[in-house]
Amino acid sequence: MIMFISFEGIEGSGKSTQIKHAKGFLEKRGIACCLTREPGGTDIGRRIRAILLDPCNVDLDPLAELLLYMADRAQHLSQVVTAALAAKRTVLCDRYFDATVAYQGYARELDMEMITLLHKQAFDNLKPDVTFLLDLDPAVGLARAWREIDGGGREAAETRFEEEKIAFHEKVRDGYLNLARQESERFVVIDAAGDEAGVWEQIRTVLVDRS
Ligand code: TMP
Repeated sequence: MIMFISFEGIEGSGKSTQIKHAKGFLEKRGIACCLTREPGGTDIGRRIRAILLDPCNVDLDPLAELLLYMADRAQHLSQVVTAALAAKRTVLCDRYFDATVAYQGYARELDMEMITLLHKQAFDNLKPDVTFLLDLDPAVGLARAWREIDGGGREAAETRFEEEKIAFHEKVRDGYLNLARQESERFVVIDAAGDEAGVWEQIRTVLVDRS
């Protein structure tokens, strides 16, 4: 029985849409779910998220950025995730620690050993049971993300990462794919280039197998 499921991917990969399909699907099968996100899964986390994603914060120090993601995670694990898992609810988390490895580790090039050690020491190395990686060409993902932002479908005040160069997003994607190779039991790589229904079908098939 899988209890902790995360969804990862670059900007515009469609994970927030797909995670909602997953919740509806699991609940129809009688599985109680807790849909949550990082950063911003708690009230305090939403304030941390605003700092992290504000495009005006161009001079946010990379180490400060890392520690803010960890602060958000500390609050989120203690206030939401641990309680939900203890109550035997399935946690569906829109991003988690793999995002830290991909963005702060691979793309910002902070020390990977420090990142993994912090996760071990602070969070007992808690990892999801299954991670769906929605894989997509960054040029396609970013174009989708900007279309949504420009169309008012997403927060225009949260574009600090969308404004990074394409090379940054390529590093994030490669980082995620490396992680998926290293932890191939946990990761399910989904081709996110197709339409919403086709991507959902790939995810649904895996959920049927594993839930
Ligand atoms: P979202 O828009 O998918 O909610 O993600 C917010 C941004 O935060 C996204 O650009 C990825 C980034 N992020 C990190 O850089 N490190 C992390 O640990 C997490 C959870 C997200």
